[in-house]
Amino acid sequence: MKHYSNKVKKIVYGGDYNPEQWPEEIWPEDMRLLKGAGVDIVTLNVFSWAAIQPSEDEYDFSKLDKIMEMVRKNGLYVCLATSTGAHPAWMAKRHPDVLRTDFEGRKHKFGFRHNSCPNSPAYHKYSVRIAKKLAERYKDYDNIVAWHISNEYGGECYCENCEKAFRLWLKEKYGTLEALNRAWNTSFWGHTFYDWDEIVLPNALSEHFEYNRTVFQGITLDYRRFNSDSILNCYRMEYDAVKEITPEIPVTTNLMGFYPQLDYQKWGKYMDVISWDNYPTCDATPAQIAMTHDIMRGVGGGKPFLLMEQTPGVSNWHSFCALKRPGVMRLWSYQAVAHGADSVMFFQMRRSIGACEKYHSAVIDHVGNDKTRVYREVAALGRELEKLGEATLGAVTEAKAAIYFDWDNWWALNCTAGPSADLDYLGEVRNYYQALYELNIPIDFVGAEDELDHYQIVIAPLLYMTKPGYDEKIRRFVASGGTFVTTYFSGIVDEHDLVITGGYPGRLRDILGIWAEEIDALPPDRENAFTYRGQVYPARLLCDLIHPEGAESLGGYHKDFYAQMPAVTVNTFGKGRAYYVATRSNEAFYRAFLGDICKECGVEPLHDSVEGLEITVRENELGRYLFFLNHNENAVRTILKDDMMDILTNERYKSGAELEINSRDVKIMKYIR
Ligand code: GLA
Ligand code: ZN
Repeated sequence: MKHYSNKVKKIVYGGDYNPEQWPEEIWPEDMRLLKGAGVDIVTLNVFSWAAIQPSEDEYDFSKLDKIMEMVRKNGLYVCLATSTGAHPAWMAKRHPDVLRTDFEGRKHKFGFRHNSCPNSPAYHKYSVRIAKKLAERYKDYDNIVAWHISNEYGGECYCENCEKAFRLWLKEKYGTLEALNRAWNTSFWGHTFYDWDEIVLPNALSEHFEYNRTVFQGITLDYRRFNSDSILNCYRMEYDAVKEITPEIPVTTNLMGFYPQLDYQKWGKYMDVISWDNYPTCDATPAQIAMTHDIMRGVGGGKPFLLMEQTPGVSNWHSFCALKRPGVMRLWSYQAVAHGADSVMFFQMRRSIGACEKYHSAVIDHVGNDKTRVYREVAALGRELEKLGEATLGAVTEAKAAIYFDWDNWWALNCTAGPSADLDYLGEVRNYYQALYELNIPIDFVGAEDELDHYQIVIAPLLYMTKPGYDEKIRRFVASGGTFVTTYFSGIVDEHDLVITGGYPGRLRDILGIWAEEIDALPPDRENAFTYRGQVYPARLLCDLIHPEGAESLGGYHKDFYAQMPAVTVNTFGKGRAYYVATRSNEAFYRAFLGDICKECGVEPLHDSVEGLEITVRENELGRYLFFLNHNENAVRTILKDDMMDILTNERYKSGAELEINSRDVKIMKYIR
């Protein structure tokens, strides 16, 4: 079967294990408890750089050797980290260039983690060196199933090395200062640059008055791209170092969902398999978690991914660390699998006794035995995954509907300076996602470079930035029969955040058949309303004042001087249709609107909707599976439409039979063909 590793034949189960933080006498007990819980993979060496490299030219692998041996003897797989997520203290002292300078311009001292400057020559040198040494030393361990480069890359740096690197990055991108001055519109506020060295990083000391409030969006956008690229470069250097020695071992680094600082769509191209860490806040809805899994699958081009971390019970770093209720860990583990995960992994195996994660739960708690609720739940899931075997491995989700998401667009919207401080890209994406989710329509996330041909519906909420050629992609998609949906404040700027003149929505105008003449921002306490198919819905946040130019109005605003102007339009373009929603509305609207569109396009729900019952699909050569995840505190029932088998219990059901799913329970139903 085609999946990330030909070594594994089931959903691997385990996670971060830090035996180096414990006396060796305890290790055999760890092995006993972990195996008792069905753990078959451990992520090792995540924060051991200081332990392995005590000084400039001294390396000591003796402890890691022992750990690797023990783990192999116990038949466990390894996800081997390169340890470069936190540099050693001696390195910060000897090579201060590894330390970051923050947004306020403060040079940091040693401390914390994820604190290395991505353009530090010393960091480059030593991180690549240790990655290489690890690969050379452990290359013959055939239980290593993945390389885990660094850990949760992120943040930013504004030091002098980064500033110099920024200038080189710009030179490479623009070639000439004329081109750069044009792209940044530097004739505004007398910013013309005559020498590359005049360019400084945009932060609190230069162009910004808040993190997301800048007077030159073009400069800030380029810095965001540059910073993401710089950190990606660190990852790629280590990637190359391990790949050279162990070309057959897949390489990953753990991503963080909708993480604002890194353009994961760019990163995904350099990862053999996507992996990510799922730590929803306690108020996160199941749809929000589902959406994050889907963006992670999307940045990997739709391939299955690894759930690298989640807490088995409680996290320590939220303001209020609520326990995962009984059954929730299992439910969320399967939710990850339902959206494409081929692993279920935790942070962490044994709960630490000191520093900030001592109240973060683990498979083995401070009490140190197998008598805890968390351990029992982990062990029960371990047995189930054993039973599930390879059934779902490598299975993909075929979606007919896609949502466009783009990091550059996110950055641009975050710092646009108008028309509303409450513009919320992620929130708007969530509105559309949630409606489809509740309709049981599988959703893919696509980025600017992904193909659209195999979708019937593409939704691009707040497509503020149209990148070069993207309008053409949409034009082709719609002309050949696709349905395209976009919203207010779309088509406004190009990739430099320069307004596309000639009327909004710019290059999308012919596809949508409208001209948006003005944009009215409504403060939080004011709203308008509009009618759509006989129903009245609220209009919030922004109202575009649009004139149809071929499009048909599906309903107009109720109030104000633009009463009767269209709030929702549809335009026939070639064989397809393009919708424009000129304002922000409520859940009821998105559900009705997208329900109509899906019907019109013949995009069928996977199953009837039942509140709180999430339904997804995955398919591989072994079968097609529907996942039923009951997020409710009560049992729910639904009628099956096909002959199916519950692959966790082997129970068979006839088409028309009732399926009962208990509170927080999961059914993985295989179609019987
Ligand atoms: C992140 C990190 C882990 C750990 C967990 C705690 O995901 O990767 O090292 O700190 O958070 O939730
Ligand atoms: Zn730096």
